[in-house]
Amino acid sequence: MRRVLTAAGAAAALAGAALVPAGAAAAPSRCGDPVQRPWCRTDLTPDRRTTLLLARMTEDEKIGLLSSDDPLGGPLGGFMETAHADTNAGVPRLGVPPLYMTDGPAGVRQGRATALPAPIALAAGFDPALARRYGGTVGWEARHRGNDLVFGPTVDVLRTPRNGRTFEGFGEDPHLSAGLGASWIRGAQEQGVMASVKHLAVYAQETDRLSLSMRVDARTLREIYLVPFEAAVTQGRTATVMCGFGRLNGRWACEDGSVLNRILRGEWGFTGFVPSDHTAVHDAVAAANGGLDMELPIGMKYNAFLLKRAVRDGTVAQATVDGHVRNILRTMFAFGVFDRPAYANDLTGIDRSASEATARQVAEGGMTLLRNEGGILPLAAPASIAVIGRAAEQAQSGFGSANVVPFTAVSARDALARRAGAGTRITYRDGGNADDAVAAARGAEVAIVFATDAQGEFFDKSCLTLNCGDPLRGDQDGLISRVAAANPNTVVVLQTGGPVLTPWAGRVKGIVEAWYPGQQGGDALARVLYGDADPGGRLPVTFPAAEGDAPAAGNPAQYPGVNKTTTFSEGVLVGYRHYDRKGLTPAFPFGHGLSYTTFGYGGLKVSSTAVQVTVTNTGARTGTAVPQLYLGLPSPRAGVVQPPRQLKGYAKVTLAPGQSTRVTFPLTSRSFAYWDTASDAWRVAPGCHRVMVGTSSRRIVQAGTLGTCR
Ligand code: BGC
Repeated sequence: MRRVLTAAGAAAALAGAALVPAGAAAAPSRCGDPVQRPWCRTDLTPDRRTTLLLARMTEDEKIGLLSSDDPLGGPLGGFMETAHADTNAGVPRLGVPPLYMTDGPAGVRQGRATALPAPIALAAGFDPALARRYGGTVGWEARHRGNDLVFGPTVDVLRTPRNGRTFEGFGEDPHLSAGLGASWIRGAQEQGVMASVKHLAVYAQETDRLSLSMRVDARTLREIYLVPFEAAVTQGRTATVMCGFGRLNGRWACEDGSVLNRILRGEWGFTGFVPSDHTAVHDAVAAANGGLDMELPIGMKYNAFLLKRAVRDGTVAQATVDGHVRNILRTMFAFGVFDRPAYANDLTGIDRSASEATARQVAEGGMTLLRNEGGILPLAAPASIAVIGRAAEQAQSGFGSANVVPFTAVSARDALARRAGAGTRITYRDGGNADDAVAAARGAEVAIVFATDAQGEFFDKSCLTLNCGDPLRGDQDGLISRVAAANPNTVVVLQTGGPVLTPWAGRVKGIVEAWYPGQQGGDALARVLYGDADPGGRLPVTFPAAEGDAPAAGNPAQYPGVNKTTTFSEGVLVGYRHYDRKGLTPAFPFGHGLSYTTFGYGGLKVSSTAVQVTVTNTGARTGTAVPQLYLGLPSPRAGVVQPPRQLKGYAKVTLAPGQSTRVTFPLTSRSFAYWDTASDAWRVAPGCHRVMVGTSSRRIVQAGTLGTCR
């Protein structure tokens, strides 16, 4: 990538070498004179520098580092879209620079920025290389807004599609979320900013989020919810990990030593620092002993009064406080914060064309063609198109900390008109007057209806219909049905942050899920509808056929909880694992998404270290295939329920007509392992391991076995 600042990866940075952006070397260090301040010597390791600095700090200076403290970056600033989300002032006396932090996972939420497609669209791309570019774009823009740290990516595995933050994560599969999250982090950190993967450990709903008590068994924790965090640390080398809201098995997330001390640091070897989500800290002593390094947005608990008292009382050891300071300083040294000038806030004035290109490519790469009857798509130069629905003029987005105010936006209506050219008559109706919209549809060769949902932080959706909870949106399901009745060539473009019910699906010819497509979404959509680009997306979430089919639906003890307590009694049966095990047929399964060409699969070869398959483009156009590897693991004993299929590999290949390629899905012993609660370890059960290659979790095209099968 042309904007990578340094060849040294964040891995090297955290392993000890300083990560100093190229071009910064000649500029003055903020640390000061290395003779008087030996911790400013860049030839020493971050650990050594930290030791030297720590020895010179007063207790107040140490405690000051343990929270955000800038009034504009604090509780008020965090909600102002023009300010940093948080700021730590550093220690000017000793050359410790301030630390500026911003949201978030879909782009920078601080003034205007490039609005990338929502992370769920990135997930639909099934493309770690694109995730790296996405993270790189967010990192680059965060840096050019003067930040050292960006709060993203969000890798919380989706438990219920009613979750208001569905759009901001990577969907319902841990393996997919893990690979994308780690790549996102690498991309962001290559730009010289720290990432903050969030929200450890389990964060599954907005309802009662600040006080929710979650009961999750150890196996489910390990096999589902922790997987992306583990990858963020071991593969992504994330600088920071944000702990979340709520209580897991009795412990507040930011005070949970069993996760933060034992698993994160002890098992995964994390050496960065742990900031809290805003207002997630409840008790200074519990947080200090439980592994929290930095309280955000201000030191309501991590302040001089409470922490000094705790040390005096002996409830928190001085070494524990020092350890938190050490984690923060070591990470700042490792990322070169001391050794470069502050990043300037100059994003508005500089060339953002690379960001725009990434935004468009992610949108195209994630556009998911759910249905295409009679080859309605790609459009074959229709004489007239009726474009219906407000989202054609303004792309939908989610709200909350993953919202971005775009620099500019390309509307689908304009982009379609440009692409269609003078030979096509385009009429537009916003859909507010259904009769009028239906009349426009009747008079056109093709009707394209845009439909959206409303989603964002703070609230869960109360149902999964398009109109749910938002009367202003009008009756979109009714409008689609009426347009479909009036025009046999109706295509629906969904701009939703996650699954919605599609009761009209059988009555329309085409359905494209465009997600929240970001500021370049209009162009991407026009290119996909006209076949300039193959729809690259596959579903990272199952679309249920009925409200009650969704995971954790219809059981209040599971969701939204009773007396602010939810029990994850579905265990590992999350997402498609739930539908598969229950034998429920979804409207559109996980992994589904059509191409404009067709593919053949053959030559399955199975071993314990890799599965191989040959993919051939059997159609007449160049197109993209996303073969997916699922394993069905044997159960070690009665009571250990195994999902029929678990995603363990995927690939994205673009092939010309007639072209073939051999795809390899690498496997490790972990791919075959379950979490054994008796021994607190990963174990491989003996027996028959079923190997399936599919074009979705429900369309298996090659199957084999490994192990002892009858
Ligand atoms: C969100 C975090 C976000 C923080 C700062 C919280 O409400 O849960 O994801 O990073 O606010 O804006």
